[in-house]
Amino acid sequence: MNDIQFSRHRRLRKNASMRELVRENHLRQDDLVYPMFILEGENKRNEVSSMPGVFQVTLDLLGKEMDEIIALGIKSVLLFGIPHEKDECGTEAFHDHGIVQKATRYIKENHPDVIVIADTCLCEYTSHGHCGVVENGRVLNDESLELLVKTAVSQAAAGADIIAPSNMMDGFVAAIRAGLDEAGYKEIPIMSYGIKYSSAFYGPFREAADSTPQFGDRKTYQMDPANRLEALREAESDVQEGADFLIVKPGLPYLDIVRDVKNSFNLPVVIYNVSGEYSMVKAASQNGWIDERSIVMEMLTGMKRAGADLIITYHAKDAARWLSEK
Ligand code: PBG
Repeated sequence: MNDIQFSRHRRLRKNASMRELVRENHLRQDDLVYPMFILEGENKRNEVSSMPGVFQVTLDLLGKEMDEIIALGIKSVLLFGIPHEKDECGTEAFHDHGIVQKATRYIKENHPDVIVIADTCLCEYTSHGHCGVVENGRVLNDESLELLVKTAVSQAAAGADIIAPSNMMDGFVAAIRAGLDEAGYKEIPIMSYGIKYSSAFYGPFREAADSTPQFGDRKTYQMDPANRLEALREAESDVQEGADFLIVKPGLPYLDIVRDVKNSFNLPVVIYNVSGEYSMVKAASQNGWIDERSIVMEMLTGMKRAGADLIITYHAKDAARWLSEK
């Protein structure tokens, strides 16, 4: 054996302290963004059946929810609304007293240090469930931009710290930037979901947010999962249009894209560990097939390693708790 040359990689894996010393990537509580579903009405906390542990909550119960989140050390939330009424153009999305606007005001009044990120889209608010204006079965681009801008401005007026447009119309960052600036919100950043694939992994979310398209699919506006260069084109135009953060979505099946985006642009990269990814882990762990804690921590750390600066995840509460127990 003496004359064989090889490297002794195991020297740095000798014990837990040594491994910690050379660990390259770390998950922190500050990396986590918790998505929340705010429901119109009173005294309701409905568990989403395909997402065990995730609830739609009404405004009167939001205080309790926020106390829990803050105690766990989570500092930012992403808000989705489930309105009383839906219509053709998603009026409740940009209403001054829309559910996300009310929830934002509530959080900023009571917990000013929490970062409120408003998801800016129409699909939870439109009767047809598409993310824009529909005419003759087609989702119109420029007409949808006007409604998105209105939504973003009303969210900023309610106190949102970050606007996160997710509808994938072309030019949404440019239009929202101009609209925010004109309305006096020059300081509000845009977290663009510009690299959003048309994905089956959004299935459980559509139950949670009641936003399943009533006809067709989202393939004319969301990206084809087979494409990589297209992601870079999307990211490039968002950067030019003034995005402050770039979101890659979904997470797990797209870690290569996260790395590409991280290497090509100098903005904070956000990964969205979406509903279907969460549901798969929950289902397997409820069956006793996997160890939930180890799996979740490995997945989230893998996302950091791939290049994500922030992670939007339904596992945020559990992960924050596990991080504090370490
Ligand atoms: C659209 C939106 C979607 C998600 C976030 N914003 C769904 C869609 O495009 O149908 C999905 C998030 C998830 O699956 O967790 N406004």
